Amino acid sequence: MAVVISVINLKGGVGKSTLAMILSEHLVFRFNKSVLLIDMDAQANLSYLMVPPRWISTQEKEHRTMYDFFKSSLSGKQSSLSEFIARPPLIVSNIARDFDTVRGRSNQTLDMVISTPRVAQLDEDLLSLWENKAPMPTNLRYALKEGLDAIKYDYDIILVDCPPGLSFFTSTALMSSDFFVSPVIPEPLSLEGVRLVCDRARELGRYPDCKVEFAGTILNIVKHYRNTHKDTCNQIYGQKSDALKPFSYWLPDNERLRALGEFEIDTEHIKEGWGAGVDTKFHSVYSKYSVSYLLSNPKEGLLSKAQELEGVKYRLHERIERLVQEFGERINIF
Ligand SMILES: Nc1ncnc2c1ncn2[C@@H]1O[C@H](COP(=O)(O)OP(=O)(O)OP(=O)(O)O)[C@@H](O)[C@H]1O
Ligand SMILES: [Mg+2]
Repeated sequence: MAVVISVINLKGGVGKSTLAMILSEHLVFRFNKSVLLIDMDAQANLSYLMVPPRWISTQEKEHRTMYDFFKSSLSGKQSSLSEFIARPPLIVSNIARDFDTVRGRSNQTLDMVISTPRVAQLDEDLLSLWENKAPMPTNLRYALKEGLDAIKYDYDIILVDCPPGLSFFTSTALMSSDFFVSPVIPEPLSLEGVRLVCDRARELGRYPDCKVEFAGTILNIVKHYRNTHKDTCNQIYGQKSDALKPFSYWLPDNERLRALGEFEIDTEHIKEGWGAGVDTKFHSVYSKYSVSYLLSNPKEGLLSKAQELEGVKYRLHERIERLVQEFGERINIF
């Protein structure tokens, strides 16, 4: 049965969607797990990172997006979440899969429920129900949880990419999750964002069936050479470590990772569907995430806690793999 994890921070631009992409692709292609990604954000960044635009349009035209799922809950007749999943032959991720995967001989599955800007309209939809004194759906808070419960046996891991802020979307994601992780840039304001999410998770704990646990903070876009980052990291690994549960492995500010966030899946590259001779952009997670140069760890400060574990120099893909390993251990899937 799948473990459900929300990737969440009140603060925007800290790497939630990037991390959801990194974790999902490594869990599938490196650790042979089956993963479902849920994009809850009206910005739909993760959807555009994983699915070519023309297939996103198809899903939208066929009303198979997160918005349509919630809309069905609003109407009081909630459809099964499985009707909204983008799965092969729609391309989810631009890493080539081997033929066995498509034939189902491997456990590797990477499916996704995409988002669309229309998700932002749900507030308005709710408001007009209220203004028109229409019956309000009673199960909305549990809509995602019920949807996921019904398909949990099809996956090992379900990752929910949350929008920034605290809203109906983040609450419903937390209600549905076993764990949440918070990426942070080591700046004081990011830490406040994590504290507020932890408070919200505690408040939601009073609802029956909400048992979400904090799996920890993942430091991202770390500029270890900057004093503000170093000082904040020292606090995170020092006096704040009990509250923030920082992962040992953090991700540096890296041009390769930034470029992945800026890039759109190149439809020119893709013929039709996976498997059947697809010419995808990357042939492995290694080719997508490796850099040819060695990255340095800081010489001093508590950031070097991770340095003790792995030596002074490392390559990006090694760092990512260890982070994903640590993630899997924290959510008990290995
Ligand atoms: N380790 C990294 N090094 C450099 N750039 C990064 C790194 N991680 C993420 N980025 C970049 O930072 C930007 C924000 O990342 P991302 O969209 O994943 O954040 P987010 O928290 O999901 O944002 P939002 O709150 O808007 O949903 C993107 O341009 C992404 O490419
Ligand atoms: Mg995002």
